[in-house]
Amino acid sequence: MKRFHPNPVNNLYRDAVNGRLSRREVMKRGTALGLSSALMGTMLRAESIGAQATPDASQPLGYTIPSADDLQAELELSTDFAGTEINWMGGADGPGVAYDEAVVARFNEITGMQVNYLMGAESATDRLTFYLQTMAAQSSDIDAAQIDVIWPGIMAPHAVDLSDVLQEGHFQRIVDNNTLNETVVGIPWFTDAGLLYSRTDLLEEYGFEGPPETWDQLEEYAMTIMEGEIADTPEFTGFVWQGAAYEGLTCNALEWQVSHDGGQIIDPDSGEVTVNNENAIAAFERAAGWVGGISPSAVTGYMEEDGRTVWQGGASAFMRNWPYAYALGQEEGSAIADNFTVGQLPSGTEGGESAATLGGWQMFVSTYSENQEAAKEWARYITSQPMQKSRAIERANLPTYGDLYSDPDVLAAQPYYEDLFPVFSEASVPRPSTVSADFYNDVSIAYFTAVSQILGGGDAASLVENLQADLEDIMSEL
Ligand code: GLC
Repeated sequence: MKRFHPNPVNNLYRDAVNGRLSRREVMKRGTALGLSSALMGTMLRAESIGAQATPDASQPLGYTIPSADDLQAELELSTDFAGTEINWMGGADGPGVAYDEAVVARFNEITGMQVNYLMGAESATDRLTFYLQTMAAQSSDIDAAQIDVIWPGIMAPHAVDLSDVLQEGHFQRIVDNNTLNETVVGIPWFTDAGLLYSRTDLLEEYGFEGPPETWDQLEEYAMTIMEGEIADTPEFTGFVWQGAAYEGLTCNALEWQVSHDGGQIIDPDSGEVTVNNENAIAAFERAAGWVGGISPSAVTGYMEEDGRTVWQGGASAFMRNWPYAYALGQEEGSAIADNFTVGQLPSGTEGGESAATLGGWQMFVSTYSENQEAAKEWARYITSQPMQKSRAIERANLPTYGDLYSDPDVLAAQPYYEDLFPVFSEASVPRPSTVSADFYNDVSIAYFTAVSQILGGGDAASLVENLQADLEDIMSEL
């Protein structure tokens, strides 16, 4: 591992990764530093990966990753950095790890570099905290990192301009999103959109013609199916989604709000805070009614993987999640393979608007890295078209190259890409990150905190009124 600079958070990270500290000690020191438990969890999980930082590329990878020769023919990756070690903070601990390890192994095999894969926190909110602590210390511990589509404004001061490794053919709106003052803060890696997953076998069994198109229908279908299934499967639930107080709740709540004609929190053009309106309040109240009804009470603690585990175990009729859950649901051994479909989330009224929050991740190189050129080569590789094609097939992560949506291999693995292309390419709803720039995280925290209180039974009208005032305060600081 590289030398870590002396700052308490990074010292702790280093010691945790190297396995020098007991779990208890990491928790104790982390608590003293004011770190969240999720962040400490990241450190503890990174320990296991630190030990296997260089997967053996000679092992069969088990994934459709282009061969070294094919990649070289297309990308001509440099071998000038052979022997250079860089740290990349990538995907969280979970079902994507094996694939990402294989991606790393292929790159190391071709270039002779050593990319160490450090797992980031599952919660985007915690991950950002970690990045900001690392960057504030001007630490070179993280050379490259995946950054969320909402963070270019926040990460810009720490970013190496990646314009010279940005390839042609990405969706322009994501490139624009990631470019500030002519600096490309992150290269588009994959995009994301919120979707509704429905169990087709259960819809049929209970006499419903297709997935629900409105939230009213979703409530009715979910309740009917749940009441029927509970007899045999007591833990069966109607609808799972991301209800924990973190960035994922901002994504879910924005979809409820927009599909009820409640606006986009902050008007993207004028910067005016618009959240305090009847439709938004009604949308939040509706969702609060799901908790302990068609959704488990525990949903207010769920992140992506919590709900997906319930869903994939066959214990939920519907799920709101990102496309990655499709690949996993179809995996060998999945209890629901071939018994589900994915499509747009419901709308507030019949024929009304349905909304998908725009998500996605970019590759960023830190200005504090001592190996910026090597890290840029890594970023060029992992965001390249052949690697995005592989990722789309294996992980269902949405490519940022428009061409890949008509690629027959991609469509064979992900048939729904065709129908949903308009949503994936331009019709998803952005969070107000451009308009709030480096204050976006404050905006999101205020928003998901208020929504979380409403889900917990708080009075929606007064919480939204306070939220409006808080957001106005934040925006006035811009
Ligand atoms: C997904 C999205 C990301 C979003 C996060 C919230 O990873 O791609 O944009 O912030 O979910 O949980």
